[in-house]
Amino acid sequence: MKADRYAPIGVFDSGVGGLTVVREIMRNLPAERIVYFGDTARVPYGNKSKETVLRYSRQIVKFLKTQQVKAIVIACNTASAHALDDLELETDVPIIGVVKPGASVAVKATRNKRIGVIATEGTIKSNLYQKLIQQADPKIQVFGKACPLLVPLVEEGWTRDPITYEVAARYLDKLLQEDIDTLIMGCTHYPLLRSLLREVAGEKVTLVNPAYETSQALKRLLLELELDNPDIYWEQTEPDDEKYRFYASDAVERFNAFANSVLPYEIQSTKQIQIDDY
Ligand code: DGL
Repeated sequence: MKADRYAPIGVFDSGVGGLTVVREIMRNLPAERIVYFGDTARVPYGNKSKETVLRYSRQIVKFLKTQQVKAIVIACNTASAHALDDLELETDVPIIGVVKPGASVAVKATRNKRIGVIATEGTIKSNLYQKLIQQADPKIQVFGKACPLLVPLVEEGWTRDPITYEVAARYLDKLLQEDIDTLIMGCTHYPLLRSLLREVAGEKVTLVNPAYETSQALKRLLLELELDNPDIYWEQTEPDDEKYRFYASDAVERFNAFANSVLPYEIQSTKQIQIDDY
């Protein structure tokens, strides 16, 4: 049976970071409804094994399917790196991650064929950005750097703090010495550090935001499958709890506070669910 065009898009992340992807979907696909799940009870995924991240992701997909979603976006680089291949094979709902869109834009952006990737330990160890980039153009060199301290600094709200600047400068030092001209912000939190990273990396380095590119990939996918929402009503309605639904596995108040600092409207009611039940 063909999926329902009016159904929502399911989006998930290990916690709040995927809201940067939600923000882009809201901006670029304003007619689409969204069901978001943030795994705030089990975050971070960035330092967990592939097996664990895949198990968590399977449970979340199961939950999202109970919400009758028509497509799923893995709005987490680590889960995209560890789980997308398996989930694509197992799931009858179209599913995309953030890594492929980010990699393909970086390939188009680089002039000197030297790309840097900053991400969690799991994403860097998976080598997925490197593999996808070099599949597209074997001459490109990719330099990866895990930056584990940046996620807690963003969650603390220190996105313009001198301490965060210092930490980012240390992490980027080697990549900049490698003369990269393109830098992939390969973790959902990093687009919130865009202006700070711009200062550290300098004007000559192109910053790639996989969140934006993912919203474009989603748009193409929905059009191709004729799953885009044709209902003008949804495009015109003010965002509310019917259009956008939020779920988290823990600490919903903290989730709401962060969400309200990222999203263009005030979230009222995030629901807590027991993700282990799925
Ligand atoms: N959302 C994760 C990512 O994009 C970062 C946070 C975490 O480690 O879970 O890789």
